[in-house]
Amino acid sequence: MPDGNRSTLEIVGVESLGVRSLCCAVALEDRRILIDPGLALGYFRHGQHPHPVQVAIGERVRRRILTLMEQATDVVFSHFHGDHVPLTHANPFQLSLLKLPQRFHGLHAWSKGADEEKGEMHRRFCDLQELLGDKLTLSEGRSVGPLSFSQAVPHGRSGSKLGKVMMTRINTGSGVFVHASDIQLLNGEAVEVILQWQPDIVIAAGPPLYLERLEESALADAWGNALRLAERVNTLILDHHLMRSQAGEAWLRELSQAAGRQVYCAADFMKHPRLLLEAWRDRLYHAFPVPDGWMDEYAHGRFDVEPFLESALARGVIPPLIDLRMIMKDSEESDPRPRGA
Ligand SMILES: [Fe+2]
Repeated sequence: MPDGNRSTLEIVGVESLGVRSLCCAVALEDRRILIDPGLALGYFRHGQHPHPVQVAIGERVRRRILTLMEQATDVVFSHFHGDHVPLTHANPFQLSLLKLPQRFHGLHAWSKGADEEKGEMHRRFCDLQELLGDKLTLSEGRSVGPLSFSQAVPHGRSGSKLGKVMMTRINTGSGVFVHASDIQLLNGEAVEVILQWQPDIVIAAGPPLYLERLEESALADAWGNALRLAERVNTLILDHHLMRSQAGEAWLRELSQAAGRQVYCAADFMKHPRLLLEAWRDRLYHAFPVPDGWMDEYAHGRFDVEPFLESALARGVIPPLIDLRMIMKDSEESDPRPRGA
């Protein structure tokens, strides 16, 4: 992945590329850091489960995460939601802790602590700790080599019942990359930390416009925080919760106009056509009806989702898929934007 002494950033899984995730791989000259190796598909939304087309894309992302795990030296867990970490009790669309490569056990793991976590979240942390033993470091507020980690900041608004997340700063040698996880731009505390870190590239979750309960004041906060970041950060990538609905696309477009520069979603940054498969769920079910009971069959390995993806591609219901690693390699030659700094 690294080209000479250049660092690279691969956005592995994210909503604008078809899955719920914020998984990124950063390759330095001598380190390969995998951040938030998990995914989900939105198990039930607006009365619908994921469509087989999305499931097929999810399979690809899952395989890519496992491949990157085989090459990784370090792994980071920003928090313990099921779209960010491998799980003991994964649903059929998530990444199972029981199916990870042997190499996972030897990785240097940098994790948010779990003192304030309760119930299921605490158990997920314990599962990871059991697997990784003393390879797992509680990392909040720590700096080790090129890696720095924030204190826990709110998952969304201050006091959110969704808990807190840990952000990661990577000094790539030629710049600074920040993975800000699920901050949703709804609290100034996280944004202040990011700005103090003086990043060149930031990827963060944008506001969850798909949730009807989002208040006007929260939206105003997100807008103000996004503008602050866009003014001070060379390359700002907002995705995850933001791109679970097409309203997110409109918000991003308006933000770019207001900021006077492009603010990217991950697909735009990776130069891949947008694949907002969760937002397109209705469209997919309409174009490709599914037989009753297919999910149960799929869970037992008796239902092939691949023909749905092939049909969707053949009929142009979704745009062509491009190998992201090739894009990154090509764009290193031609694109003046920093890649992982
Ligand atoms: Fe998330």
